[in-house]
Amino acid sequence: MTTNTITITESPQTLSFAEEIFGGLAATAKYLPSKYFYDKTGDAIFQEIMHCEEYYPFGCELEIFRLQTAELAAALLEPGGPFDLIELGPGDCQKSQYLLQHLVRREVEFTYVPIDISENVIDGLRARLPVTIPGLTVWGLNCEYLCGIREATLASGRRKVVLFLGSNLGNMAPAEARRLLRRLRHHLKPGDMVLIGLDLKKCPHVVLAAYNDKAGITKRFNLNLLDRINRELNGNFDTSAFEHFAVYDPASGACKSYLISRTDQQVSLWMDGERRDIWFARNEEIFMEISQKYTIDQVDQLAGQAFFTPVERFYDGRRWFVDALWRAEKRSI
Ligand code: AVJ
Repeated sequence: MTTNTITITESPQTLSFAEEIFGGLAATAKYLPSKYFYDKTGDAIFQEIMHCEEYYPFGCELEIFRLQTAELAAALLEPGGPFDLIELGPGDCQKSQYLLQHLVRREVEFTYVPIDISENVIDGLRARLPVTIPGLTVWGLNCEYLCGIREATLASGRRKVVLFLGSNLGNMAPAEARRLLRRLRHHLKPGDMVLIGLDLKKCPHVVLAAYNDKAGITKRFNLNLLDRINRELNGNFDTSAFEHFAVYDPASGACKSYLISRTDQQVSLWMDGERRDIWFARNEEIFMEISQKYTIDQVDQLAGQAFFTPVERFYDGRRWFVDALWRAEKRSI
């Protein structure tokens, strides 16, 4: 194949940004969905995080893709035949591009299907991939994960390999992660594969520092969602009135980020032409994000619970991160 085919499909979300944001801020225990961190500014701040000193997961997984490209490719190609290589939350493809390059060079017949909720990400891939990997066939989907998977499985009957890298699944608590994986499995056929990147439990100081960097990049990343609400919902958050607070619990493996209101304050935003007021008490928290860490046994368990079989594991040199290859089991669900 010598041409780059890129189609952008927009699919409606179940709940709008406004509905989900207001729902979270109106709850008794306030929260904001971390998937909304990724607007244009958020994507740029996340790039800074990936390259900051304390944030290790990106470097670990990059090392796996850079040093074990051929092994990864061989494992994914093992069943044989043309396939769709789906990537959930590809970002700028820095890691997967090693694999994509390798497959294109070997003239493997496959279509790359990146699925991302960020329009900015999909637009960026559309601009760059034809230049960086000539000959790659791409079908970009700007929507949520399951919506994109559904679309990809309806569009072609080829076998699927799903890349779910970067500990993106870590942004869900384990029970929710299990639910998502089961729904993902539901859309796949026996023999289809998932390569899932998960951050492993390690020295708690190392984990906490990654979400509490000295330069305050993670703090800006969190506060940007308040700015985004100001921009998109005509809100009046004063970001200087909120403090960033991260905790890691080594027992549960949950690393959580909060924004804490420094004062008693009222904030308003607009939904469907109506003003909504939200009250914050001094020291009241907004739960912003979970980044779940797993043991390797828990990773295997997760596979089984979602009706996958662990096939192979790829580690970085320090064994801080794993890319686990799973195969969908032959069973009807
Ligand atoms: C993109 C979900 C993998 O949880 O480690 C980084 C996002 N948040 N620093 C993570 C994030 C704060 C990141 N993931």
